[in-house]
Amino acid sequence: MTRVLVVGSINMDLVTTAQRLPQLGETLLGEGFATYPGGKGANQAVAAARLGAQVTLLGCVGNDAFGRELLAHLEAEGVDIRRVATVDGSTGIAAITVSGGDNAIVVVPGANHQLTPSHLDAAEQAFAEADVVLTQLEIPLETVRHAALLAQRHGKPLLLNPAPAVALPEALLQSVALLTPNEHEFLTLLAQPDADWRAQLAERPGKLVMTHGKHGAYFALKRGELRHQPGFEVQAVDSTGAGDTFNGALATFLALGLEEAVRRANAAGALSVTRPGAQGGMPTLAELEAFLESKA
Ligand code: RIB
Ligand code: NA
Repeated sequence: MTRVLVVGSINMDLVTTAQRLPQLGETLLGEGFATYPGGKGANQAVAAARLGAQVTLLGCVGNDAFGRELLAHLEAEGVDIRRVATVDGSTGIAAITVSGGDNAIVVVPGANHQLTPSHLDAAEQAFAEADVVLTQLEIPLETVRHAALLAQRHGKPLLLNPAPAVALPEALLQSVALLTPNEHEFLTLLAQPDADWRAQLAERPGKLVMTHGKHGAYFALKRGELRHQPGFEVQAVDSTGAGDTFNGALATFLALGLEEAVRRANAAGALSVTRPGAQGGMPTLAELEAFLESKA
């Protein structure tokens, strides 16, 4: 059983559904409203836990009703939350509008920005016990850098999902074992303008996977040899959290080799969009295997 340590954000998603996304200055009548557990860190933790990984989450929630609800939910999902701190202030939220499988998101980090390097130091044992460390960019950058340092100290591979896109110091990029941007994040964070993105992707064999929505993912195993692992076709209801599902799955299956891990992560990501909510459609290991068998 893979032991995954997730260092990341925990949000309550406040989701409205509408016929289309509103335009600037427009008031639009929506069709539905619901709250769902979210946050990139928590989503990736739940994705990995459903797929059978042993998951520890380092993060912060606020001392409020959302925080309590999210902790209870994470615990019910089998995520080890003993190192999630409850701090003064509000739990992170994401205001999301979903329309026809697409979405627009505003995140207010709240308590997530109180996840500090010293919090990680206090939980250093969790780095020693992990097989892989997984993090994203909804927590302070200095905390991400510290996670990289602790992962390195304990000889554990760090998987960084650079979402949302925030400029990254070169030293951090160098210490990452595997970077998983989507197309937008790759183009804004890593690509040299005017150069062929395919060629640039293939310059980091084994260290970079670019997700491309329903089209699947790109990566290289050898320098200059770009591979495309196609996505799986499904009926999209809500694409929120598809990337998180991909990342949680990738970390869980990394030991199977990058190609097989990406194939499974694609399948998990596809299944996740078939139900509402970031975590709604995340498959269990049995569901993932049945889906892959049906496609074989
Ligand atoms: O990646 C999806 C997540 O981004 C949502 O759950 C929302 O909380 C935002 O953090
Ligand atoms: Na979903």
